[in-house]
Amino acid sequence: PRIFADSADIRDIEPLYRAGIINGVTTNPTLLKKAGATSWQQAKTMLTDILTLLAPNPVSLELTELTQDAMLVQAQELAALGSNAVIKVPIGGYRTADAGADPFTGLKVIRALWEQGIHTNATLVFNTTQAFWAANAGASCVSPFLGRVADYLAKHDDKLGPPGNSLYQGDGETRFHNTEYVACGGPRQDSGSRLVQEIVTVFAHYDIRSEVLAASIRNPAQLTEMLLAGADILTVPAAILAGVADHPLTDLGMQAFCADAAVFSG
Ligand code: E4P
Repeated sequence: PRIFADSADIRDIEPLYRAGIINGVTTNPTLLKKAGATSWQQAKTMLTDILTLLAPNPVSLELTELTQDAMLVQAQELAALGSNAVIKVPIGGYRTADAGADPFTGLKVIRALWEQGIHTNATLVFNTTQAFWAANAGASCVSPFLGRVADYLAKHDDKLGPPGNSLYQGDGETRFHNTEYVACGGPRQDSGSRLVQEIVTVFAHYDIRSEVLAASIRNPAQLTEMLLAGADILTVPAAILAGVADHPLTDLGMQAFCADAAVFSG
């Protein structure tokens, strides 16, 4: 699989890219804010720098508009920042007072951008059908957020979901009422990795060409799970990437080898 940096901070991205550790980047407004952006103008400059550094490798840039027309305008603005820009489109309609009416907003935007030759990354994917429909609409890749599923399950371990999205126990199974969080069907304590496994399996089954980009990875164990699941791309925070090559037994082993080598002469 390919490894991307999940970051908007060029100080983290550049050394990883130059070392050949990553060949793509995913950004979002939270990561831009964390990297120091305080205005859209500044954010666009930061994104342009990342696009230039990474070209021709892909850099995902997130839409923040919520209506179809506004999303398409913003997508064109972001796509104009670099030919390697991939536009992150949240699939679905958005549960806001003025934009929640059309459940197909994200799919329509993905389709329209596909027709314009603009690559898209269907983001904030939390079940397999979202991934399937996004791929069908023409998304270049789909991003299941496995870490957020794990966060959600850890937080709601008492089996009580937030209002309107509660869990129930029935037929020996734990299910989410609201399938927007995770796919239903069976106890899902491992839902984050299971979600990615399902999507990889369904895409392989139907020979779907969209890539599966495992997002929201929180630790090296999840990274390994994603490799086992067969994700095409893993986007990983720089801090996690920095730790993946470390193991105390590697250090101890090398100390012993160096100590033994020190007795050799000549
Ligand atoms: C992916 O494209 C997203 O930027 C990212 O993985 C979100 O992860 P988070 O849950 O850590 O915010």
